Amino acid sequence: LIPDAFGFFLSNATVATVSRSTAMTAPGLTSIRTSGEKIEIVNQLLLPHTTEWLPVDSIEQAHDAIKSMKIRGAPAIASLAALAIASHLTKALQQDPAPEYLSSPDALKAHVEPQLQYLYTARPTAVNLGAATRRLTKVLNTSIAEGKDARAVAQDLIVEGKAIDGEDVYRNKEMSKWGGEWLVEQVKKRGGSGDHLNVMTVCNTGSLATSGYGTALGLITYLHETRKLDTAFFTQSTPYHQGSRLTAFELISLKIPSVMLCDSMVGSLFQHKGIHGIAVGADRIAKNGDTANKVGTYNAAVLAARHNIPFIVVAPVSTVDLEIENGSQIPIEHRPPLEARLVRGALYPFTSNAQGVKEQATVMVTPEDLEGVYNPSFDVTPAELITAIVTERGVAVKAEGSNVFDLSGIV
Ligand code: MRU
Repeated sequence: LIPDAFGFFLSNATVATVSRSTAMTAPGLTSIRTSGEKIEIVNQLLLPHTTEWLPVDSIEQAHDAIKSMKIRGAPAIASLAALAIASHLTKALQQDPAPEYLSSPDALKAHVEPQLQYLYTARPTAVNLGAATRRLTKVLNTSIAEGKDARAVAQDLIVEGKAIDGEDVYRNKEMSKWGGEWLVEQVKKRGGSGDHLNVMTVCNTGSLATSGYGTALGLITYLHETRKLDTAFFTQSTPYHQGSRLTAFELISLKIPSVMLCDSMVGSLFQHKGIHGIAVGADRIAKNGDTANKVGTYNAAVLAARHNIPFIVVAPVSTVDLEIENGSQIPIEHRPPLEARLVRGALYPFTSNAQGVKEQATVMVTPEDLEGVYNPSFDVTPAELITAIVTERGVAVKAEGSNVFDLSGIV
């Protein structure tokens, strides 16, 4: 075993997985923990004030946790779906008598395929979830075609499910390094020193949204680790406050100098602070580079173009959906209107219950009889406004004079 550029030990160059515990750069920053076939997720609706671990014992619980956003972030929900299938099948293999669906490969297929489909419906925009379920479907079909018995097919699915989760950290480190170094070069080309960079991000794309290290937040972390970062700026990302609750929590835990702004202050920030780059994640990237990400990303991209600031999308290759030509075909999830009318958080001044847990409250900020609410969870940033798309494979830019990317060769 040889250490790679980041100090991780890889058994070979192509299949590189890093366990969650190895990946943690700050204690407590993880969305999922596993022990054998047992899965627990941290309830992200209660962070940062309360760390509540919830068991995920079934496919239904995994689906509900994703749908209710107790776990969120495109790679993290794909990991949970894959691990839930792996855990479900591990338990089935241990059962005595064995469940009926282990009696034949066809019975197993009839059991697993609807479950994959069900998991995929939990949130429609993040394609990683679909990529994970498609990958598991492919393994299912290939193993059956190879003539394996149901138990062996189930075993293959377990291995694949765990691999989907395990690969995420390594590729995050790859893309973070590619993107961080690319941004430093861009700043130098523009006459800057490439040191003391101010980078803004949207939503939460760190360890809580992935299996570890993060994508756009990984890029920021990489710049910090290589002493190139001055300050990380992040939007609150209302109405769910992934920025003020989760990104703030991660940046403080990682001791990265950071400043929060309200979503409406991005224009002011670009006018008054020297921002060197914007790094955002993605839930789905169309073949031409149009990118769906947390609502508010498009606003930031329009303003970045106005201020000539590099706008970088950082995401794994599995976020690229080559079946979709452009952003108009990306399904955009609309969340329940009520969610945009509520603010959730710890009571302040803080009060604790008998167990020492800070008490939380949900407060309605609108008139009770408000009916009209526009609440898309994501928006689409046209490729024209994106300077670079960074994956674990490297940095993609547009051809000279083109407004779109050609991502056809990336997958
Ligand atoms: O609604 P969320 O919190 O799941 O939205 C998350 C985002 O938009 C992230 O930017 C994206 O999933 C990438 S996470 C690495």
